[in-house]
Amino acid sequence: MKTSDVQQAYSSLSHVYIDLFGSGQHEHPDDLRLIDQHLGHVTGPVLDLGCGPGHLTGYLRSRDTDVTGIDMVPEFIAHARQAHPTAKFELGSIARPARADGSVAGALAWYSLIHFEPNQLNHALAEIRRIMAPGGVLVVGFFEGPRCEPFEHKVITAHRWPADEIARRLAESGFIELERLQRPRDGERRAHAAIAAAAV
Ligand SMILES: C[S@@+](CC[C@H](N)C(=O)[O-])C[C@H]1O[C@@H](n2cnc3c(N)ncnc32)[C@H](O)[C@@H]1O
Repeated sequence: MKTSDVQQAYSSLSHVYIDLFGSGQHEHPDDLRLIDQHLGHVTGPVLDLGCGPGHLTGYLRSRDTDVTGIDMVPEFIAHARQAHPTAKFELGSIARPARADGSVAGALAWYSLIHFEPNQLNHALAEIRRIMAPGGVLVVGFFEGPRCEPFEHKVITAHRWPADEIARRLAESGFIELERLQRPRDGERRAHAAIAAAAV
């Protein structure tokens, strides 16, 4: 999947996405607990990579985290700056985060790695590991499935992943799993998984 195609797809649907998800009201309490536990009390800079409209950046800011939301879609960054004035936001890339090696204390990648092709994912994880200080925690949220496969997501093609495979790739990239959450499909809501993993 070309990054520019993903960017254009989100840009053209940014208003719909903001209306649907921008309030953050749909976030499951178990997920907020996971995010808060691993990233809400971190000393040092935390990145919300692929922050979209910025609702989880705002949540982390409300927990007193020094958080910056980063996304490649200008419409999301403009909205996020207005909606969450006490948080910081930047236009930027997950695949090439503009941060020095070991400079970040934690990171969230909440449904923002779902459009990476299987052969692109390790590069993105390696870049996140590069900027992470030892012991820093990455929290990843994603669609879960029995095998890695693409499907027609409402915005643009996404992938579902077995949680074990994401854990294996995190381990290959220099992270050790700390905690995992899994929820089966529930009506319209697809099966979900999230993993918190520390940089070793
Ligand atoms: C499904 S949305 C998730 C947004 C937000 N994290 C949430 O939970 O609602 C995926 C987001 O990742 C961003 N994204 C995907 N690939 C990216 C990349 N290579 N660099 C920066 N942002 C990216 C998209 O622009 C989009 O905002």
